[in-house]
Amino acid sequence: MSVVTTEKHDNILVIISNNPPVNALGAAVRKGLADGVAEALSDDSIEAVVVRCDGRTFFAGADITEFGKPMQDPNLGQAIDQLEASNKPVVAAIHGTALGGGCEVALACHYRVAVPSAKMGLPEVKLGLIPGAAGTQRLPRVVGAEAALPMVVIGNPISAKKAHAIGLVDQIVGEDSLTEDAIAFAREQIGKAPPRSSEGTANEDGIKNPALFDEFRQKNGRKIRGFDAPEAGIQAVKAAGELSYADGVKKEGELFMKLMTGTQSAAMRHYFFAERAANKIDGIDPKIDLIPIKKVGILGAGTMGGGIGMNFLSAGIPVTIVELKEEALERGVGVIRKNYENTAKRGRMTEEQVEGAMSLLTPSLSYDDLADCDLVIEAVFENMDVKKEVFAKLDGIVKQGAILASNTSYLNIDEIASVTKRPEYVLGLHFFSPANIMKLLEIVRGEKTADDVLMTAMKLSKKIGKVAAVSGVCPGFIGNRMLSPRQEQANIMIMEGANYWDVDDVLLDFGFPMGPFQMSDLAGVDIGWHRDPERIETLRDALCAAGRWGQKVGKGFYDYNEARQRTPADEVKQIIAEFAAKAGKEQREISKDEIRERLLYPMVNEGAKILEEGMAQRASDIDVVWINGYGWPLYTGGPMFWADTVGLDNVVAGLKKHGLPVAKLLEEKAAAGSKFNG
Ligand code: 3HC
Ligand code: NAI
Repeated sequence: MSVVTTEKHDNILVIISNNPPVNALGAAVRKGLADGVAEALSDDSIEAVVVRCDGRTFFAGADITEFGKPMQDPNLGQAIDQLEASNKPVVAAIHGTALGGGCEVALACHYRVAVPSAKMGLPEVKLGLIPGAAGTQRLPRVVGAEAALPMVVIGNPISAKKAHAIGLVDQIVGEDSLTEDAIAFAREQIGKAPPRSSEGTANEDGIKNPALFDEFRQKNGRKIRGFDAPEAGIQAVKAAGELSYADGVKKEGELFMKLMTGTQSAAMRHYFFAERAANKIDGIDPKIDLIPIKKVGILGAGTMGGGIGMNFLSAGIPVTIVELKEEALERGVGVIRKNYENTAKRGRMTEEQVEGAMSLLTPSLSYDDLADCDLVIEAVFENMDVKKEVFAKLDGIVKQGAILASNTSYLNIDEIASVTKRPEYVLGLHFFSPANIMKLLEIVRGEKTADDVLMTAMKLSKKIGKVAAVSGVCPGFIGNRMLSPRQEQANIMIMEGANYWDVDDVLLDFGFPMGPFQMSDLAGVDIGWHRDPERIETLRDALCAAGRWGQKVGKGFYDYNEARQRTPADEVKQIIAEFAAKAGKEQREISKDEIRERLLYPMVNEGAKILEEGMAQRASDIDVVWINGYGWPLYTGGPMFWADTVGLDNVVAGLKKHGLPVAKLLEEKAAAGSKFNG
């Protein structure tokens, strides 16, 4: 059956797309739309048209899998121009998510009606693009430049209610009566001159107040740093006020094509599919029966335990949190409440929601209260003996069939599982700090972890808003394991004469939010320090002995002013020079290029080893981990995709030039001229 069909309801023609899963606007759909309009125009009994979709959503955008290939006619712009040109009123009937090209289809229709749960948005910017079917020109003409800017430049979808408030939706209709209501609405428009969004005038707000573009740039500076598409989006929206519609569309096309053929968009499209691929576990049927998770237990209410608990509370899943001492429990619960209240203060939660989440939390000092949990996540001290003791105890108390998970950062999950009688129900759930905010969840698959246990964890991660990737059991799993060689090189290089602020700046310039020495200052240089100022064996010991404990005391690797701005410290330069002299290291100038290569290439090399050992299922999973857990810049696609763009032969040559080891897989791929991704 054709993906686009039509139905006659007396004098109304309903054009229906059915292209699962998300009604992406592939070639067949575009042609179907154009044919549908032609049918309506050639049939005298038809007086108005409704465009709607079957399945879970209105068109969720252009078909991203077609990008980078020759486009079949009609292209989206042509297809939707035909909708707008119709002299019979055309109504978009929206449910689910009208995104990207889907939102552009809706914009080209003369009217838009939507169910209350619908969302509309132009998320192209998240793929390193801007809308390419006149969305940047039609939207400002309908809602004004000010309302259009965040939609085009930041790309978050808005609710039907908001869309109605800004004039993007003409009428909110019944959640369960979309088709009937849209047909009735269409009937009311018969005989009226169809309003065309290409002729709208709301965009004049940007002409009257041109400062709004600069203000927007400034307000969102941090969010858009390093990305090319947001600036193109701003220019396109500005053009909507300054140029004729036709010239504006031309300008949008030029900006779009430049982005589409660039590396950033390729990287971000890679990431889009990488995130979805990471959900799939090789060899496990995605439809496997899952273990219902109705109640979660958390052990330890410290830095991680509290944050982990919040994920479930926010998703409406009851949590029992167990601590050793009353004081620690109270502190932990207090932090959870404070975090929620801060969110409420920023307007992102209501007081009722705060109380609702808190009412699902049961604090306890007894392991026995975990007995009926379906999943227990341990977040106690990072020590194998402690973890083993805790898991043996949990195994005896928590009901059979429940999952026992550890949040360990480095320890061996198989060894932890070995003390239980249910190793197949044990796995690692490695959250990142702050656990209520950071997107990444590394799911660590033990040797014996059962398929349904793993899949349950995977599905649950989506429910709590995390991006998950599976790792095998190895020290540091995927993320921390790759961090180690970078940190090692950073430490070695500053002993060889590299400026430590250059090391940080190289990573900042690359697009990371901060470098390793800034990070150390932020976390506290004194974390894990033995606290004996007389015992100076490492650079860290020396800094701590000098009272340089990090940002919290105003000095660490850097000196900090009141505004927490950093300046390199003479005292630290001196300390480093003394250490280097003691170690007999010759100091030399080290270029930023060398620094970059020695920081990043060894990470790629470690990634190759992880793949070689089967610790990651695919290279793109490694990209997902680093983008979501460590601030690797999205617009480079993650370490493995980035290495592909640098050229694996160049990576290998760089490693060799700096006397660094080269993994077998990397060497082979480079020699074969192949890539990690594709
Ligand atoms: N093209 C091709 N495939 C798409 C797609 C698209 N636009 N959107 C989703 N898919 C695929 C996914 O890859 C996934 O495939 P898989 O099952 O094989 O992994 C499947 O559809 C289901 O997607 P999700 O797992 O993401 O489903 P959710 O229900 O979680 O989310 C969604 C649905 C909110 C629609 C989400 O898929 C999404 O955000 N899609 C992308 C929307 C987008 O970016 N649109 C703009 C495209 S660019 C454009 O339109 C350019 C135009 O201006 C010219
Ligand atoms: P933390 O020291 O802040 O909290 C640990 C808590 O566990 C303390 O409140 C302690 O009282 C409690 N505890 C200890 N033994 C217990 C027991 N037997 N029963 C109940 N409670 C007990 O430690 P943090 O940072 O939260 O780390 C916890 C785990 O998470 C560690 O395995 C760590 O490696 C891991 N992790 C930590 C990250 C971080 O950035 N802090 C990031 C990712 C993982």
